[in-house]
Amino acid sequence: MELEDLVKDVQVLAIICNQYGDTGKGKYSNFFAALWADVIGRGTGGNNAGHTVVLNEKERIFHLIPAGITYDNLGKINILGNGMVIDPEVLCDELDYLDKENLSYNNLMISKDANVIFPYHIERDVAKDKSQRHGGIGTTGRGIGPCYTDKIARRGIMISDLFHRDVLIKKIRKAKEYYPEQRIDEEQIISDINVYSERIKPFVADTVAEIHRFIKNGKKICLEGAQGLLLSVEHGIYPYVTSSDCSLNGTATGVGLSARAVDLTLGIIKFPFMTKVGGGPFPTELGGITSEEYCSDYKHGKLFELDKYTIPYYKKIKPDDKTEIIYSNKDPIIMTLINRKDEFLQGIGIRLAACEYGATTGRPRRIGWTDGIAARYAVGINGPQKIILTKADAISGADEFNIAYGYKNNSGAQMEFTRDSDVLRNAKPDYKTYEGYQSIYGETNLNSLPKSLIKSIEDFENFVGAQVAIISTGPEQRHTIIRN
Ligand code: IMP
Repeated sequence: MELEDLVKDVQVLAIICNQYGDTGKGKYSNFFAALWADVIGRGTGGNNAGHTVVLNEKERIFHLIPAGITYDNLGKINILGNGMVIDPEVLCDELDYLDKENLSYNNLMISKDANVIFPYHIERDVAKDKSQRHGGIGTTGRGIGPCYTDKIARRGIMISDLFHRDVLIKKIRKAKEYYPEQRIDEEQIISDINVYSERIKPFVADTVAEIHRFIKNGKKICLEGAQGLLLSVEHGIYPYVTSSDCSLNGTATGVGLSARAVDLTLGIIKFPFMTKVGGGPFPTELGGITSEEYCSDYKHGKLFELDKYTIPYYKKIKPDDKTEIIYSNKDPIIMTLINRKDEFLQGIGIRLAACEYGATTGRPRRIGWTDGIAARYAVGINGPQKIILTKADAISGADEFNIAYGYKNNSGAQMEFTRDSDVLRNAKPDYKTYEGYQSIYGETNLNSLPKSLIKSIEDFENFVGAQVAIISTGPEQRHTIIRN
């Protein structure tokens, strides 16, 4: 199937994640911005997200601005929607980054109604999370939860407030009453934030009215989800969730649209392995609780694992002065690890092979086999959709792989997916095992995919009740198979 067939009669499409995030929304939001959309809108979360885009081997990570921004020069409009929480300093850092990269952002729009993250939100987030380090949620520490808390409690501060000093001072004083343990100097906050507010002012708009106007004028809209359904405050594994609704519904209302306005939902699933960052149940995790505890420690990042398993690497200084660590993800030691019988070590091997380290925090991502039960639940909530499978190329070289199609509880009885985290912790997956495959990196022809992979995809489609329309075989846009 060609892309034209997939998007035939579609005016609004949404790219959302059916797992715990980090599944490749950035790649496909950028893909549709390049090949189809006029407008790219993000409706939820803040700089807890890290959307990675690889173009001509150059990797870029966006935290707030939609990944379609790389096509601003073609007139593509990128919107930060009303449902987002925005740290103005981080947004300005992202604008600086675009300047350095010679990427324009003339058509950027920032919702006047998005809520603002202030330093006191970040302090509270970090302090609270530290106090529950073990068994805690493991937030990204970006102030997301406290900012959404203020929003829901009707004491949030919106982007439009930034431009009215009197209103702002009054609102910060009000917020202060709820943060008695923190020292909040509103004069200081206002003078610090002013430089960022002035910088973003030209881009602030009534984005809800704009998006309705775009739709009326026949523009094609791509909604870029953030995080994933299993992290949704509304539908995820509570309380191990973020503070926004990352479902299709949240993604749509976060830009001022009804989910019914979405003609095509593309739900992403990492396959045949999946990942999670932060605490909480993850039934198919390789290495179980040992892995959960190990991954909650920030120091077990990429460098630590490369050193520990004596994998050769070198450091390269990037133009933005950040250090990049280069290693071969097909190193023989990594290949040995991914086939270890010890699941904890196998998880480390897959993490290294797939380079699964947090784009926002650098944390090691927890690794497990793709969970069909959780995916079926997520697909049910996100509604009729076509599926995008990502990362299958990353476990090339594994002798075999597993997909979970059932859970059993402690007494060996079948159990269903549940949002109850205490109950879900007892779920033991039932796997179907498939033969592994050699490299499919960059493959663009469906017929060249190994039979065992095709069979696993067909089984998975039947189980979750949605058709796989796109298979990603590498980080670049062109590493894509569109399937009928
Ligand atoms: P928060 O969003 O920073 O409050 O973190 C709440 C939970 O969501 C933590 O477990 C985070 O690790 C997780 N989380 C937040 N954003 C992302 C993301 O973009 N990808 C994956 N996990 C995320």
